[in-house]
Amino acid sequence: MTENSYSRGLEQKTPNVARIYDYMLGGKDNFACDREVATLLLNNPRTAAAVRANRRFLIRAVRYLAEEVGVRQFLDIGTGLPTQENVHEVAHRYAPDARVVYVDNDPIVLTYARALLDCPNVRIVDGDLRRPTEILENPEVRQILNFAEPVAILLVAILHFVIDEDNPYDAVATLRNAMAPGSFLVISHGSADESAEGFSEAAEQAYNSATVELALRSREQVARFFDGLDMVPPGVVAAQSWRPDISPDTGMPLGVYAGVGRKPGG
Ligand SMILES: C[S@@+](CC[C@H](N)C(=O)[O-])C[C@H]1O[C@@H](n2cnc3c(N)ncnc32)[C@H](O)[C@@H]1O
Repeated sequence: MTENSYSRGLEQKTPNVARIYDYMLGGKDNFACDREVATLLLNNPRTAAAVRANRRFLIRAVRYLAEEVGVRQFLDIGTGLPTQENVHEVAHRYAPDARVVYVDNDPIVLTYARALLDCPNVRIVDGDLRRPTEILENPEVRQILNFAEPVAILLVAILHFVIDEDNPYDAVATLRNAMAPGSFLVISHGSADESAEGFSEAAEQAYNSATVELALRSREQVARFFDGLDMVPPGVVAAQSWRPDISPDTGMPLGVYAGVGRKPGG
């Protein structure tokens, strides 16, 4: 990924990851160039299901954290464009006092989110997962979140946009080290090994014409992001199979792994 590939997100002629995803979720904040790439991706019928499964995993994970284990602080890196059931809305349903910081490096996302997320205890901050220390030391982040207390760090459908050359494992280790005992790490990740035949190739081609390279990883590679954490059952599984509240698991591989890990102690 080139350093400033996201700055091109402001152009209406360059497809953009957040807007492509917005279109695939049924949103309206996208341009013709985004819809073209999304349409290519959606040519594979599993892609639409994968996008929905990812978003539903995010919602279930936030609900689990806020309702079942009492997390009151959320750091959501790779927020995406505001949609239905944003993280703070789900968290506030179960914990009205929850504090949420959203982080994204896409100027479009920041502009839309700042306009729409006008809510006390919720902040949207410009930051890049590849520079985690800057996120952790950002005064706006520190105003809302106290890293001496348990926090949930969400990396949902973002790590597959961070290629190995950009050291994603070091970035995630920095975040894990900053978390207090009893904190949680939530990850979902696109994968090639679970996908329908041809999906990963098609996805890579489509995204290559957009603003980023795609780094699909195996289940084992995804599990490594949780090093040192205790996995919340059922561990790293297909996104649709992570504590499903209905029975959406048709057994169809969708190419997205998901898991939640807890830092021991606390
Ligand atoms: C596919 S969306 C995921 C949105 C949401 N997390 C979800 O799963 O529904 C990926 C988001 O990650 C952001 N992103 C990609 N690389 C990033 C990076 N290095 N730092 C911060 N944000 C990044 C994109 O701008 C986009 O908004």
